[in-house]
Amino acid sequence: MQILVLHGPNLNLLGTREPGVYGATTLAQIDADLAEIASKAGFTLESFQSNHEGALVDRIQASAREGCRFIIINPAAYTHTSVAMRDALAAVAIPFVEVHLSNIHKREPFRHHSYFSALAEGVICGLGAQGYSLALSFALKKLQEPA
Ligand code: DQA
Repeated sequence: MQILVLHGPNLNLLGTREPGVYGATTLAQIDADLAEIASKAGFTLESFQSNHEGALVDRIQASAREGCRFIIINPAAYTHTSVAMRDALAAVAIPFVEVHLSNIHKREPFRHHSYFSALAEGVICGLGAQGYSLALSFALKKLQEPA
């Protein structure tokens, strides 16, 4: 697997979870779209969602052993709390883009800080589900660049 898409807690509820904030697209639709785009470009992409911080840390660590070259991550609520996930990303040193469906800067002050942004190649927020495909388009371009 060359590209890993990670989704944090409660994103399994997309479609029914506060649709005014997060949109009506389900996580399965997002993942299927990304897998199709990647596969058309000749890359393998895997998606993983968990409501558990340790499971996400384990998945990040495993991705390095599996030869993953790029990560797209929406850490969800862990964005604002998880030193452990940030440290895992720093440890594997795989480039990543941070995605948020909502514009976290327009929302409650506790959502304004991210433990991930300072390590990310870039951050996309507020563009809904389209943010993931924009992040993937960036990843594909990067991976296609000559080494
Ligand atoms: C989110 C924003 C977070 O603040 C929130 O906890 C989420 C989703 C987003 O995609 O907009 O669960 O990461």
